[in-house]
Amino acid sequence: MLNRHKFLERHSGPLIAAILVVVSIGGIVEIAPLFYVENTIEEVEGVRPYTPLELAGRDIYIREGCYVCHSQMIRPLRDEVERYGHYSLAAESMYDHPFQWGSKRTGPDLARVGKKYSDDWHRQHLIDPRSLVPGSVMPPYAFLETTTLNDSRIGAKMVANRRVGVPYTDEQIESAQDDLRLQAGYPYAEDFEGFEARWPGVETPFLADNKKVTEMDALIAYLQVLGTMVDFSTFDIETVDNQR
Ligand code: HEC
Repeated sequence: MLNRHKFLERHSGPLIAAILVVVSIGGIVEIAPLFYVENTIEEVEGVRPYTPLELAGRDIYIREGCYVCHSQMIRPLRDEVERYGHYSLAAESMYDHPFQWGSKRTGPDLARVGKKYSDDWHRQHLIDPRSLVPGSVMPPYAFLETTTLNDSRIGAKMVANRRVGVPYTDEQIESAQDDLRLQAGYPYAEDFEGFEARWPGVETPFLADNKKVTEMDALIAYLQVLGTMVDFSTFDIETVDNQR
């Protein structure tokens, strides 16, 4: 064996060939499972694609770099589960492109922040965090409240999401702009029944009496849906320890 190795060490042609064989074995072992990664995500009841308003809010979340200070993944450790709720499931971010798991927590994890506070709390907190949490180091985002949301490209964004696997229907994409405004409570269209058919289970209107849909509205709609799609009411914290 050692003698044969000597041969390889002295002849670069065969050495390159041998390296290629060894490296490609390693490569296959690492790469092949990725082709089956879809199969590893269990479908979970309740998980649905984001509505146009939530998707627009998600884009603002990314644009403003909220992920720099906030993660969105609750690890299956007792302290995390006690603080934030059930640990995150893969399926809960299956329609996130890109996902927002993150590992940096200057602020708390937001994976289950939805419905934890009222819309008004979020509005006030984003306008001036220190008015609600005196020691907060979170920057203020008051300008979101006065910036009208540019929703002209929301349909195109949904098409882009569909290309990477989010199952938006043609109907949902066609009426994206209307549905976005409807969910935000913008008083101009009356097609609530159509909305309910396209987005079963989504509450309308999200915010009543809006003169215009602001970036703040979209961001809050997104924050309020985080972690609320799956029903964990039967969850028992004791099972966490047993599963580890
Ligand atoms: C510089 C770091 C930083 C950035 C950037 C930041 N935050 Fe925060 N955030 C914090 C800190 C620290 C807290 C905890 C104190 C507080 O509640 O204000 C917090 C708290 C929160 C909370 C309350 C969470 C809870 O469970 O009580 C929400 C919601 C939130 N941030 C949303 C956002 C959003 C949305 C953005 C982007 C527009 C953002 N944050 C950007 C640091 C940050």
